[in-house]
Amino acid sequence: MLVDFRPHTRLRGSRPVDIGATVVPVLEALSDSPVDLGKVRVVADWVQYRENFRGVVDLRPILHVPAARGPAGTVPVPMGTREDDLEIAVDVRRSADVPLRELAAERLRERSDHVVLEDWGRGSESCIWDFNALYWSALELWEKASGQGYEQALPGGESDARNTDAARELVDELFAVWDRLAEARALPEELYVVELGVGNGGQAKVFLDTFRERDRDRGTGYYRRLHYLMCDYSQHVLDLARETVSEHLDHVSAFALDAVRPLTALGFLQFKVFLVYVSNVYDNLPTDEVAHLGGRTYCVETRAYLPAEAAAELAAELSAGVDELPGLVHKLLRLGPGLLPEAVPQHVPDVDRAVAFWRRTWEALRLEERYVPLAGLDTYALSDPTVRNGDAAETSLGGELLGPLLQSGADLRMHVSNGAVTSFVESLKLLHPYGTLVCHDLFVTEVEGYRTHFRGPGKYDGSVVNWVNGPLLAHVGRRHGFDIRYERFRHRSGGNIVTMSAQVGD
Ligand SMILES: C[S@@+](CC[C@H](N)C(=O)[O-])C[C@H]1O[C@@H](n2cnc3c(N)ncnc32)[C@H](O)[C@@H]1O
Repeated sequence: MLVDFRPHTRLRGSRPVDIGATVVPVLEALSDSPVDLGKVRVVADWVQYRENFRGVVDLRPILHVPAARGPAGTVPVPMGTREDDLEIAVDVRRSADVPLRELAAERLRERSDHVVLEDWGRGSESCIWDFNALYWSALELWEKASGQGYEQALPGGESDARNTDAARELVDELFAVWDRLAEARALPEELYVVELGVGNGGQAKVFLDTFRERDRDRGTGYYRRLHYLMCDYSQHVLDLARETVSEHLDHVSAFALDAVRPLTALGFLQFKVFLVYVSNVYDNLPTDEVAHLGGRTYCVETRAYLPAEAAAELAAELSAGVDELPGLVHKLLRLGPGLLPEAVPQHVPDVDRAVAFWRRTWEALRLEERYVPLAGLDTYALSDPTVRNGDAAETSLGGELLGPLLQSGADLRMHVSNGAVTSFVESLKLLHPYGTLVCHDLFVTEVEGYRTHFRGPGKYDGSVVNWVNGPLLAHVGRRHGFDIRYERFRHRSGGNIVTMSAQVGD
């Protein structure tokens, strides 16, 4: 048996985690069970997000063949691998507060009666991303019910995107590049800046105000030539942002687009954009997880479900049977809380009730996980090719890119950040040769960071958060000829936000 206690830094300090109380009862429950102890891993994490998709104790089957995804037995098994059958995951932040041995024993005996909402699939395909998109499109209804704005759920309670010192630095750097180009008579007439995932437009306003003021002081006339493109997939968010930047509307356009695929709508700007700005968005884009365990490589498949007790309560509130819940949840995701009452008035008579159903479902939502072996990283597509004008676009990234990070020997589970990587690569194609991409986000900057800390998914209000795989983005960026830098966000002490910048390499 292998016991992997990841948050080892929490074993010291003023309130150390007590392994005897948080992990040992799970081992005791295991030894009482019929499970083959030679084929089990116990993994302890500190799940830092109060709202998340995990139980205190979760069971994750480790498959030996790629279930239903190909003929059985097609995965070659490297020599010397450990072939475990089962992983037991324990959240040590919560496990001392429950009767852990009984809970683990129950999970090991369990014939599950929870309500499954979807089939097994890659993490990026889960319906949690439909919940995420719904949150941003119906934000107004959620915020009205919760009584708080989305920024209050961000780390530090407000977005670093609105930091004026950071905006001034960014604008000055941009002006320095433009001054040099102007001197060489190489500055284009139109000066493009793109922001992906604009939220309430707070950052856009700070940037535009600062830009106009600095430009006025310097008398360079750049503001007159500026085109600021605000992009988001939520029309509601774009409307909010337009209102926030109302003073600058002559210089601003709003684009409804998927940040994962910015080229789809912005292809006409290829090589023309001087700044692509992204803040707190990459951690909000769909991602898979992959793992290297005992010498084999796996994809972590997930399946969303509602625990039996929560499902019974929800069904009672809706005057519905428990078996009707998956259908109602998928209707909610398709229609949104505004239209749901029209489709199922017998269960959801008005919008307030629809919002309550949405919020309760989200709160209760959990993810089951299992490890499914990959025949090889080349069989795993990190991003699918987009077909545009009949041609497959270039932005198709193969799983081999993960090799240097994932297959270093030791056991590791990490995010692939599929949405972020695809968005990043497409954004690099927008950049002018002297352009920069600047991104503030939650980045894991060393692979080692995946061995010791839980990196998501967590829940921020109604949205999903996963830390972004920084080493992978850097690797991909360098392969595209860019210099990639990470540094702690300089304009606020404390906090986990890191600034990534990408520029064409020398
Ligand atoms: C956490 S907010 C960040 C807002 C702002 N940049 C900030 O830092 O305060 C995430 C924003 O990204 C947008 N977003 C999330 N996924 C997106 C996607 N796939 N395509 C476009 N926008 C997306 C959301 O609608 C929301 O406006």
